[in-house]
Amino acid sequence: MRSYDIVFPSTQGLNPSEEYFFFTLDGEQMKIHLHDYPTIYQYPWLYEAVLYERLGCDSPRGICQILQKLFAEQNVDTSSLQMLEIGAGSGIFAEHLKMTLHIGKIYGLDIHQEAKIAAYRERSGLYSGYYVADLTNLSTEAFAELSQQQFTFVGFASAAGRKNHILVEGIEQAWRFLEPNGWFLCHVGHARPNDPEQEYTHLNDWINRKIEHQQLTLMLKESCFHRYSTNGERIFHDVIVGVKTSSGEAREKLNYE
Ligand SMILES: C[S@@+](CC[C@H](N)C(=O)[O-])C[C@H]1O[C@@H](n2cnc3c(N)ncnc32)[C@H](O)[C@@H]1O
Repeated sequence: MRSYDIVFPSTQGLNPSEEYFFFTLDGEQMKIHLHDYPTIYQYPWLYEAVLYERLGCDSPRGICQILQKLFAEQNVDTSSLQMLEIGAGSGIFAEHLKMTLHIGKIYGLDIHQEAKIAAYRERSGLYSGYYVADLTNLSTEAFAELSQQQFTFVGFASAAGRKNHILVEGIEQAWRFLEPNGWFLCHVGHARPNDPEQEYTHLNDWINRKIEHQQLTLMLKESCFHRYSTNGERIFHDVIVGVKTSSGEAREKLNYE
């Protein structure tokens, strides 16, 4: 892995969506927004250096540990699973899924071409395929292609929520590509009081409705350390895992108001 000169600002009280860092390369300093993924993915291993080495992101390891226990208890043959990993980025979560759980096939999906390039550059041979598509605005071709894949596992790490992350409409779209009896994994941040951005609340409401309407059988919900903020605060996310029921096929009208 490359070593980079990365400095975080001393500004206190930034919202997670406002965080940024300074990055110096060849004597030139750049200010990069922490969620400016297309820019970050252009530099080999920069995503891993900032989020994982400097901010201690532990979600891929933590989620895989939780899944490993659950799948063992449920006697899941992980090598037969065909997974759609949404918001896949440069592939760090898929790498853990392969190493720890030996998932048979993983297909990545991300809105940015730069993510696919980074995943194939940093982790060649990991994905069985990688779609570049906006889950909230899929083309007819992408929808048709994803629909015929028969995914038995759909999920994501650190990819839902606020600006530059997948909105609940996109999560609903991915849910449609999951086969009945397939596994669904959701990784969602804790909603903060008075937070102007309500995406985590919307996603939690969406999951609760799936459970109430018996479209999703909840198997596990566990809080897990995600990463440090640039101010050094500990951030936690929930890991939610369930199985899609046969009635989970029913289309539910989205209503967040
Ligand atoms: C924080 S990164 C997560 C990367 C990786 N899953 C990890 O665990 O480190 C979030 C990813 O979601 C992607 N993303 C955001 N909106 C999206 C959308 N509408 N459709 C597909 N991917 C999206 C971003 O491009 C980014 O690569």
